[in-house]
Amino acid sequence: MWNYTEKVFEHFKNPRNVGEIEHPDAVGEVGSLICGDALKLTLKIDKATEKITDARFKTFGCASAIASSSALTEMVKGLTLTEAAKITNQQIADFLGGLPGEKMHCSVMGMEALEAAIKNYRGGSTEKVMIGGAERVVCKCFSVTESVILKAIKLNNLHTVEEVTNFTKAGGGCGSCKGEIEKILKDYWAEAEHKSFMKMTVVEKIRMIEKVLSEDVNPKLKADGGWIELVDVQGQKVKLRFLGMCHGCPSSGATLKNVVEKELKERIDPEIIIEAE
Ligand code: FES
Repeated sequence: MWNYTEKVFEHFKNPRNVGEIEHPDAVGEVGSLICGDALKLTLKIDKATEKITDARFKTFGCASAIASSSALTEMVKGLTLTEAAKITNQQIADFLGGLPGEKMHCSVMGMEALEAAIKNYRGGSTEKVMIGGAERVVCKCFSVTESVILKAIKLNNLHTVEEVTNFTKAGGGCGSCKGEIEKILKDYWAEAEHKSFMKMTVVEKIRMIEKVLSEDVNPKLKADGGWIELVDVQGQKVKLRFLGMCHGCPSSGATLKNVVEKELKERIDPEIIIEAE
């Protein structure tokens, strides 16, 4: 039994705005019956103000899918399309007082349906729009595309395959896509770390590098009587100086590569370039 909040139960038992608007201005459809969850969102939009005047849903799914869809329709009514486009899956979950981690994909499905409906309206037709439709499908069991996975990682700060499965269902079937999800996660966070390192001030970079040198690198070198200190940082170039036994040691090049560079790349930024003075 899932640990649902009172509000989830309330929206599950008395879902708001169930059904389908006749002659809607926008339609957002996501998921499929084969995948186990599906949601169709229909909107009525005031053309002059772009305000959502009515929202209705039809869903196939569990209690949290029904509650998330019901919450979404309540949240979007009265908003302009620009305001509605900013709604995140976390806000849908928060509206319900939270959702169990394993059920967060229901809130993502709501956000995707809204995104599809807005895209559909902007495109000027009520034909079904697929989010990430033209893209590579990573998880074939649940038809989850790379852009849906990347968006969930970014918006929800996801770090593990299990978290990605909770938020998107990708990886929750046969499991054969888990390696690919792992790679998407690794590449995303490596890129994010690089961007945040490049945005740091020189003082912040120095502090961070010195922390890694004192906590991870020098304790290893110290065992052999060696030591390394920071000389300069410019952009992503880091200049270092060997001291003690390491200074002039014939294997210092290998130490630089296998110990120092490895630690700094792993802990700070994979794009860091190391030079020895
Ligand atoms: S392909 Fe993703 S779980 Fe089967």
